[in-house]
Amino acid sequence: MRALICYDTKYGSTPEICRAIRTGMKMDTDIQNVRDVYTLKYDLILIGSPIFIGKPMESVVNFISRSYMLLHSRTIATFVTCWATATQYSAFSKAFLEQLAKHLPPCRLIAQKALPGKLLPDAVSSRDKQILNRLLRRLDTMADDFESSDIPWRDARDYAAAEAFGREIETLYRKTT
Ligand SMILES: Cc1cc2nc3c(=O)[nH]c(=O)nc-3n(C[C@H](O)[C@H](O)[C@H](O)COP(=O)(O)O)c2cc1C
Repeated sequence: MRALICYDTKYGSTPEICRAIRTGMKMDTDIQNVRDVYTLKYDLILIGSPIFIGKPMESVVNFISRSYMLLHSRTIATFVTCWATATQYSAFSKAFLEQLAKHLPPCRLIAQKALPGKLLPDAVSSRDKQILNRLLRRLDTMADDFESSDIPWRDARDYAAAEAFGREIETLYRKTT
């Protein structure tokens, strides 16, 4: 039995989460950037993406589109990495997972998980900082219960939670096959 974890990243924090997921798994598991995936001959495929402005990365969505027929009817799990999950706004995570899952073909989607990511606004590009500031201003005005100054910007990655997700996926995989 073999699994593939495929992902993309903009600021480099997601691959470490992928490695933690793999640590929780017993089956032989490869990790690859979606840009480098050349075969999908795996029993279980995990697809992960960080969230930027409420959406998964275009490269991950493009990967799903171009692999549509190969992913059809396969056993799949998805995950996103984002800041909302680590905050009081974790309810947003469900929508992020839907944004990723809606691109999938009919398949056996055995698990979906939002995992806390890393966001240090001073470490992102000046363009992304502007985009982020615009997003936060919009949320501050639109949502009564949103206060951007309350967000604890940090590296919120939770490796234990990622490992637990790896274990959970394997259990679900074994139950459903
Ligand atoms: C410009 C920008 C927009 C972002 N938008 C969101 C968002 O809408 N929701 C969220 O929860 N996290 C958002 N994030 C946080 C990222 O999802 C988080 O930093 C993620 O861990 C980055 O992964 P990476 O280091 O692998 O690129 C945003 C980050 C940046 C820089």
